Amino acid sequence: TDEPLVLGIETSCDETGVGLVRGRTLLADAIASSVDEHARFGGVVPEVASRAHLEAMVPTIERSCEKAGVRLADVDAVAVTTGPGLAGALMVGVAAAKALALALGKPVYGVNHLAAHVAVDVLEHGPLPSPTAALLVSGGHSSLLLVPDVTAEVVPLGSTVDDAAGEAFDKVARLLGLGFPGGPYVDRAARNGDPAYVSFPRGLTAPHDMREHRFDFSFSGLKTAVARWVEQRQAEGTPVPVDDVAAAFQEAVVDVLTRKAVLACSENGVDSLLVGGGVAANSRLRALAQERCDAAGITLRVPRPGLCTDNGAMVAALGAELVMAGRAPSPLEFAADSSLPI
Ligand code: KG4
Ligand code: ZN
Repeated sequence: TDEPLVLGIETSCDETGVGLVRGRTLLADAIASSVDEHARFGGVVPEVASRAHLEAMVPTIERSCEKAGVRLADVDAVAVTTGPGLAGALMVGVAAAKALALALGKPVYGVNHLAAHVAVDVLEHGPLPSPTAALLVSGGHSSLLLVPDVTAEVVPLGSTVDDAAGEAFDKVARLLGLGFPGGPYVDRAARNGDPAYVSFPRGLTAPHDMREHRFDFSFSGLKTAVARWVEQRQAEGTPVPVDDVAAAFQEAVVDVLTRKAVLACSENGVDSLLVGGGVAANSRLRALAQERCDAAGITLRVPRPGLCTDNGAMVAALGAELVMAGRAPSPLEFAADSSLPI
């Protein structure tokens, strides 16, 4: 076969991901997470994440090769996330990728984490239409992007001005006494609730916001509105209808996400939308996105949940696209860039 075997390394946050793909075929996706080490701090601690990557890197590379049944020596190219993300965490991945490439005498490709979230879909649904719009929603990002071509630089259209979408799910879940991470719990509770029980605010959708923050999101006002509503009930001594509040909150989030994503497509003449990131697992987001894309003549692509969250396969997938498109590798002195737009 002349399809390239590419190893991808992802270390932008708390997951050490090492994926192997051949062309557009996923061979292995090994992950080590330091999430438990951060839990007692209530958030990801950068120094802890960097050290965990350093410890997990070589074992995760070995595990990925074992799973795929390939030898490191057979790898045609190495790809690695250069940003956006935590600076120290990114550096561990970049250093490992360069060392590996140098030792193997193979090229190394530095890639954008957001572009990799988009490219991963080729492993499941085949070549990506050009151009595609992308809505990336997770605990770390909430962005709308234009992707001229899977190997081109992504064009940021907008992002959150405060909390990420997943963060909002997590905070509201805590407020409702549900578990962590909150998204799946809110999703489940909402299935038994009435989304119209309360009408919570839709951030940045007022007419003046649709001029200045057309493709931006805001979720902190919504979170505060839910908190106020719950506190009022508690002060009155009336029980809080958790399922209804979860449904109403979720509806407010996914209404804004899908409305702006479809608008981004229509305004840019794009008829393909990709939704990725951990929040893409949300059942109501998937349903409403499908409904609104159908109405607008847009083809919706959503990778399966295991490919939506941070992983090494997405980096390998983008690396393989770059190799197959005949793109030049990165010079060996490239650096991590934690400040890329998220
Ligand atoms: O991409 P991801 O696994 O990791 C990081 O952001 O680092 O995304 C995790 C986020 C969490 O905030 C989680 O609550 C959210 O995705 N999430 C969901 C669902 N499943 C995960 N949010 C809403 N509905 C879900 N079903
Ligand atoms: Zn991510």
